[in-house]
Parts: sequence; C-alpha cells; structure tokens
Amino acid sequence: MSPSLSDDRPLYHQLADSFAEAIHQGTLKPGKRLPAIRRVAQTRQISINTVLNAWQLLEDRGLIEARPQSGYYVRSVLPAVTPPAPHRARIKDPSSEKLDLIDQVFAAQNHPDYINISLACPQDGELYPSARLGRITASLLRRSPDLIGRYALPPGSERLREEIARRALHGGMSLTSDAITLTHGCMEALQLALRAVTQPGDCVGLESPTYFFLFPLLASLGLKALEIPTDPQHGLSLDALEMLLQEKRIQALIAMPSAQNPLGCCMSRQNKQRLATLVNAYQVPLLEDGLYDELQFDWPLSPAVKSFDSDGWVIYCTSFTKTVAPDFRIGWIAAGRFHEAVARLKAVSSMAESRLLSETLAEFLANGGYDHHLRTLRRRYAANMDEARGLIARYFPQGTRATLPRGGFVFWVELPQRVDTVAMFRRLLQEQICVTPGALYSLSERYNHALRLSCCYPFDERYTWALKRTGAIACELAGLAPGNDQGLPLRPQTV
Ligand SMILES: Cc1ncc(COP(=O)(O)O)c(C=O)c1O
Repeated sequence: MSPSLSDDRPLYHQLADSFAEAIHQGTLKPGKRLPAIRRVAQTRQISINTVLNAWQLLEDRGLIEARPQSGYYVRSVLPAVTPPAPHRARIKDPSSEKLDLIDQVFAAQNHPDYINISLACPQDGELYPSARLGRITASLLRRSPDLIGRYALPPGSERLREEIARRALHGGMSLTSDAITLTHGCMEALQLALRAVTQPGDCVGLESPTYFFLFPLLASLGLKALEIPTDPQHGLSLDALEMLLQEKRIQALIAMPSAQNPLGCCMSRQNKQRLATLVNAYQVPLLEDGLYDELQFDWPLSPAVKSFDSDGWVIYCTSFTKTVAPDFRIGWIAAGRFHEAVARLKAVSSMAESRLLSETLAEFLANGGYDHHLRTLRRRYAANMDEARGLIARYFPQGTRATLPRGGFVFWVELPQRVDTVAMFRRLLQEQICVTPGALYSLSERYNHALRLSCCYPFDERYTWALKRTGAIACELAGLAPGNDQGLPLRPQTV
C-alpha cells in the first residue's frame, strides 16, 4: 500500500490506488474508518494535502465517504436499485392473501426467539435513552404524585408541545404549540388525518413501495390505495403525482419525503418545495409521515415539506417511536387547516396520552441530551448501514442490488427476479430468522423479489450469522453464487 517513486502518476493518485486495491481485496472492509489523515501523512512522510487529495479521489470513485466530525469510511460496493419501469397508477384494494401475509409477518416479527434482520424498531437497549428516562420518570413521580391521577386531554401536555414546537425548527417548521396535537404514536396521527380529510370510497395516493401497514389502515377506513412510482434514490415521482392531481384521481396523499420506509431515500429540498406547491395548488391534503426525519444522516437536517406549506394543506405526522421509546406511544400531528377537525377526532379516539410519559418526554427533550443522543444514533446507523451493505455485497447472490439510504435504519434489497421472497421468508422462519418480503410493500406483484432489511441491531455474531444465512438461502433459491464466491456461511456454535 505504499506509493512508489518509480511510478510517474501524482503521489495522491498512487495513494488512492493503493487504498482502492485494499478496499477491492477486502483488506479494508465496508464500514471501516480510514486511518486519520494526519497519521497517514506522518507514517508515509507525505503532506496532509496529498492524503486529502487521495481521499477526495476515492470519494469521487464512490469507494469512501466522509462523515461529519467522524472521518472517512469505506463504502460498500453494492449496485444501486434501479428506478422502476414506468407504470400506470391503478386503484386497488388489498387482497385477503396480502392482509394475511401482513398478519403472518407481524406475528413473526413479534416472536421473541427469532433473529429479526428486518424490524424497523431498534433492537439494542443502548439505542434508547432508557436510564435517563427512568431517572426523569422517577423524579417526576416523586415530586408530583398527582401526575398519574388526571387525564392530559387533547391537545395534550403544553410543556411537551412547546418542546416539540422548538425542535420542529430543525426541520424548518415554525409551529406554535397550539398548532400541535399529541397522538398515540404516528399511526394514530395518520389515522386521524385520514379520517379528517377523506370519505369512505375516496382514493389515497401512496409511494410505491410504501410502509405496509398503510394498506390495512386505508382498507379499515373504506379507502382505496393508488400507488405512485417512486424512485429508489430521489423519492416520489412528482410528474406522475401532478398528472393524478390534474385528473383529480386522488383525494389525499401519504408520503415520507425523508428517509422513506422502505427505500431509505430522501427527496431533494427542491422537490420537497415543489411537492408543497403542488398539494397547495390542487388543494389535496398531503399527510407527511416524518417518522425518520430526525435520523437523516446529514446535519443540518433537510427541511420537511411542511416547512414550505403555504395554505395548510400539509399535515405533518410523526412520533418518538424510533428515537426515544416505542413503548411511550407518543406522537404528534400538525394538521394545518384541519387542526380543529383532528383535535375533535382525537378526543373521541384515544382521548389522551399518559401525562407521566408526556412530562417525562418533555423534560428529556428540554434537558436530557436528546441532541447528543440523536447524533450518536445517526453515526451508528450510518455505520451499521455500511456494515449490512458490505455483508450483502459478499454473501447475497450476484446481481443483488440495494438502496443507499441517507437516513434511518431500513433499506431495500432487490434479489434476482427468480427469487420469490415470500417463499424465502417462510424458509427462513424454519431457521428462526425473520425478514419482510417485498410483496408486503405494494398491492402489485412488482416487488416479489425484494426484501426490506434493517440495521438497527448490534452486529454481533448472532445477527451477522442471520444476514449471511439469509444470503445463502437467497443464493440457493436463485441458483447463483454469492457476490464474491465465498461459499455458504455455516451457523456458528454460539448462535
Ligand atoms: C413510516 C412509518 N410510519 C408510521 C409508523 C408507525 O409509528 P408509531 O409506532 O409511532 O405509531 C411506522 C412504524 O414502523 C413507520 O415505519
């Protein structure tokens, strides 16, 4: 890996090539941090600028990436998922088989003995600020035992809503606490918004692929789903959306413009602005699901579509499920022009959130180090994503593609077309491994060869084995060798 004096290419080129070789040969593995620039300069007796130029060259080649305040890391070499072939959006109801499959996957996800490499819920105690929350809750109860003796009627804890309004500024949203209603998770926020803006029989536009619980949610409200083409890198197709709006084919739209589930993609700021302009111009409500917004890897965060909302047609829905505590079930909604209607529906839905947990969360947001916690999560998920993609590149069949998310902890993997991932899901359950098949994320058959995977778990021997084993079964079903011909991984004794 040493630059040679007999080579007449610039030194930085030689240095970049020697590191590129180490990356290609697997000596430097995806997700690994490159040595510090100053150290490389010292040990090789070259200038810091030479090393910097080499790193920039490697970055241009897509081999490494810079992470703010952390250094340079090796990227994985998986090919990207290609945009879907253009398809005409069709209205559909979920078939009973699809709803059954959702139930089966949900049951498997809840099985305590399964190794879940798909679950969109952090599976490591360290990923939640449990100790700090415990201290705050205990102290609150000690000081105000009456907290648990009263309802926090809608719109919910004033202090928490003030904290939320303050934090919403990071997403470019200037909201007052009065514009916010607390909800029972993001799911209730979405449901209240749908009930406020649609009538049974209406049609709701969705990204394709999309979060699979939206299908039963729409069906339960008598609503129809219309899937809109979504680019794995750039998000919802705004041209397709504009056509649907012109033809008045949808009465509402649900989208995840940042760190979309399952693709992980983020829309550009410009596209977010255009999306806000479109829904305001056509007066069709957008339910912006911002669940992963605070987990975008880039800081400052890319703004929410809601921040460009001129006339209140964007309804922002989110929760603290992915960042603080899924068990708290605390979410919120800023429903714009539908605020009153949503607040009334909330009162006759789940009525109130827990006062104790709302005040605990408010105190944590105000003084508990939430920003530090978020920075740790972002760094960790970005590194985990590389680690997972690196394993997939090595152990999944040749021709496997994956998305390269810019936030969150879920991503999308497309296997060779002949692999039926529902069959694969069933096969993996026999080995107590749980994945979510692509068929769940659409009412079409378009994604029957895809999987949604996640990386919010520790990369210990158990999870690493499950990922390799999933790759091995995919190779078997595809009749293809793994990406780098390593052979099938065996189950380690300790698993
Ligand atoms: C995109 C998306 N929206 C909503 C939800 C539901 O969130 P909550 O658990 O806060 O109700 C999830 C859960 O995974 C999700 O991924």
